[in-house]
Amino acid sequence: MARFLILTATSGTNRELADVFATSAASKGHDADVVDLAEMDLPMFTMARSKNPDESPDISELVSTMTQADAWVVIAPEYNGSMPPTLNNVIAWMSTSMDWQDFRSLCTGKPVGLATHSGGGGAHVIMAMRQQFSYIGADVMGRACLSGKNKEVNPETIEAMIDNLAR
Ligand SMILES: Cc1cc2nc3c(=O)[nH]c(=O)nc-3n(C[C@H](O)[C@H](O)[C@H](O)COP(=O)(O)O)c2cc1C
Repeated sequence: MARFLILTATSGTNRELADVFATSAASKGHDADVVDLAEMDLPMFTMARSKNPDESPDISELVSTMTQADAWVVIAPEYNGSMPPTLNNVIAWMSTSMDWQDFRSLCTGKPVGLATHSGGGGAHVIMAMRQQFSYIGADVMGRACLSGKNKEVNPETIEAMIDNLAR
């Protein structure tokens, strides 16, 4: 049994997709938590805020959930050929709210699967997330789940991703 953390950058169709991943993981006997980054409503990261404890959000609970998870599934819509600000923002807060060695060890080798429900194909947001999560040291799975207005989710892709991430 594996512990999955499913992160969704938005609360609409991508949140629905996150719930589908969580249901699939649970049906295979895994634990799955869904965290909605839009609901967290973090302030935008700036250096000034990060240096002021009164303006820095407490993300320790998220960091702890991420640490305990055996694998992450990161789900985001494409925004202007890249990822939505909620996702990039939380990574900036994570990387500055802890010691950099702790951030490195949190991310290094973490199995990560990527998924999207976007207006178009979603290939650009998958590339953007692949670049960022690879950069921070995660082990990003080659197969990704792309869906959109004109492309239904392939349930076999979700099953295969869960099986491979749980290994
Ligand atoms: C600011 C913004 C930029 C967008 N840019 C793109 C884009 O570059 N490519 C694309 O396929 N869809 C784009 N879309 C459409 C979203 O990817 C699509 O509506 C997605 O399903 C929204 O996810 P949600 O329902 O979880 O909020 C954009 C939407 C917004 C709000």
